[in-house]
Amino acid sequence: MTSVTARAPAKVNLALAVGPLRADGYHPLATIYHAVDLCDEVRATATTGSEITVRVTYDGRSPAERGEVPLGSQNLAVQAATLLRDSAKVRDGAELHVRKVIPVAGGMAGGSADAAAALVACDQAWELGTPREHLEVLAGLLGSDVPFALTGGTALGTGRGEQVSPVLASGSFVWVLALSARGLATPAVYAAYDQLGPPPPGEPQVSAALMSALRAGDAAAVGAALHNDLQEAALALRPELADTLAVGTECAALGSVVSGSGPTVAFLAGDDEHALDLALALTGAGVCADVVQAAGPVSGARVVA
Ligand code: C5P
Repeated sequence: MTSVTARAPAKVNLALAVGPLRADGYHPLATIYHAVDLCDEVRATATTGSEITVRVTYDGRSPAERGEVPLGSQNLAVQAATLLRDSAKVRDGAELHVRKVIPVAGGMAGGSADAAAALVACDQAWELGTPREHLEVLAGLLGSDVPFALTGGTALGTGRGEQVSPVLASGSFVWVLALSARGLATPAVYAAYDQLGPPPPGEPQVSAALMSALRAGDAAAVGAALHNDLQEAALALRPELADTLAVGTECAALGSVVSGSGPTVAFLAGDDEHALDLALALTGAGVCADVVQAAGPVSGARVVA
């Protein structure tokens, strides 16, 4: 039996600008995705049958932080494997083992990482040799954040987030992530965003200040330019996140922002020592379920074994 393991990263949105609800139920976005070294792993073992099964294990998390990853056809790794096999017109089976590290429903695209890792792992386990561009098309069909999970790095996302293009960025950044015990459902956060009233007119845009800060690799300027249009909606659903964000101000984080649809809060630290200070302050204040340090950018989904 061929077994292939792939790893894919979580993301933080350094900027997330959201336009008005489209007729297809999605919102137009302009976002800067940034991949961090908090990775899920998917092992795909080719089988002689035609079934695609999945089991999920959780690394080092208490049951409260595990969330609910579906195990049937709703599982994004299963959906990715199924779509890949349908597009290649084969009926190979696979046993998938998802090792979750990325918080579930945390606004860090953990499900998308699983889908991207499953695409890459199954492609190799089934010896399909699917061209990269085709994997990217399949990724876009699986979810708005899946193409970025394939690409990684720091990238601009447009459309509903699935159109990914590289941005000029230098340097690396130290993040402290405050995780919540309960996740937030992305559609609920977008619905809360719609309730807050119409967004400003015009196309959603990423600030020039963030783009030039990234070009220069200037962490302080990146921190100052962090912005998320969904933050107010996430705070409306989880008012206690304001206390979490306040710790960033108290500890002079270079920037503090809710990641994507939340509830994870990302703090940009100046260095490892500053990150430790932030982590200790967050833990001491009791404003989150867990604290994780992460570095970015890192590469997208890739085979590791
Ligand atoms: O693309 P994905 O399946 O990850 O999206 C999940 C949900 O998030 C969508 O059904 C939609 O409610 C919301 N969404 C949105 N606009 C986007 C991306 C996601 O409204 N650009």
